[in-house]
Amino acid sequence: MDINSIQAQIEGDLAGVVSVQALEEVRIKYLGRKGLISELTSSIPGLAVEQRGTFGQQVNTLKNKLLELFEEKEKTLKTKSSVLKKSNLDIGMPGIVQELGHIHPITQVIDEICTVFNRMGFSVVQGPEVETEYNNFTGLNIPLEHPSRDAFDTFYLKDYSKLLLRSHTSPVQVRVMKTQKPPLAMVVPGRVYRPDAVDASHLFMFHQIEGFLVDENIRFSDLKGILELFAKNVFGRDIRMRFRPHFFPFTEPSVEVDISCIICKGRGCSVCGRKGWLEILGAGMIHPNVFKQVGYASDIYTGFAFGMGVERIAMLKYGINDIRLFFENDLRFLRQF
Ligand code: DAH
Repeated sequence: MDINSIQAQIEGDLAGVVSVQALEEVRIKYLGRKGLISELTSSIPGLAVEQRGTFGQQVNTLKNKLLELFEEKEKTLKTKSSVLKKSNLDIGMPGIVQELGHIHPITQVIDEICTVFNRMGFSVVQGPEVETEYNNFTGLNIPLEHPSRDAFDTFYLKDYSKLLLRSHTSPVQVRVMKTQKPPLAMVVPGRVYRPDAVDASHLFMFHQIEGFLVDENIRFSDLKGILELFAKNVFGRDIRMRFRPHFFPFTEPSVEVDISCIICKGRGCSVCGRKGWLEILGAGMIHPNVFKQVGYASDIYTGFAFGMGVERIAMLKYGINDIRLFFENDLRFLRQF
């Protein structure tokens, strides 16, 4: 038998030993009266005369080595157990399992959309949720008496009649354009607030992503190209997109943008209300009055803007039929994303 491989095997056995009792068992197995070493020793007389000397020596060296290893192991086990006793640490007690969290589905969708625009050269910026009445309305061409204020009406801060919870992420356009000159290409994710009664498709708080691009010679076709790339990246290569005329105070012309229904591929089903199309966002060419408010020359610069509701996009993408699910913190729902 090969002495070296025997030593390796014993070292392996020793490495797995964690208690003094287990060590004793291993000791008996190798160094005991009927153990391996005594077996090897008693095999010597049966060997050829010229082999006996070397083999006897090897067995002896192995035995001394083992005595050394066992002594060392015993020492470490004993110090370990006395430290444990002193510290009152119960190593038999089950540990506390750390549950790993993960990114909320709404944040995942925000990240995905922002990444798509980022790859097209848009930077990601944010603005405050408490806004001025000016940035939320007047700066965006929604004057005080304008009826479309109703659609974006919001919560006002008590004692600060000029401050409110922003009802869309569009005011960040005003903030950016007041402080920077074109060319600009930005997307703005964030929370917005509306005094809506809560139901399966409305909440008093939700998320939007605003986008805008301003430079010389920006055309409506640029808007269409960018939005089509976005929609195909998020919803799939084979979807189709269409623009419908609409009204927004801050854009002219304005559109609502639909994609072909991702469920029925445009044939008509209950998700798209048999129309074959799903509305995903609002957009348009930035109104000259908005440029006037921020001090841009509207005969030099043109630009487009768009705004989408993140929850709506996420609901379409994952086939979710109740917006409240996102914010109930029910792990059975959240774990699916
Ligand atoms: N702010 C709009 C809303 O909350 C969304 C929107 C529509 C933003 C058209 C835009 C736009 O920038 O051009 O409903």
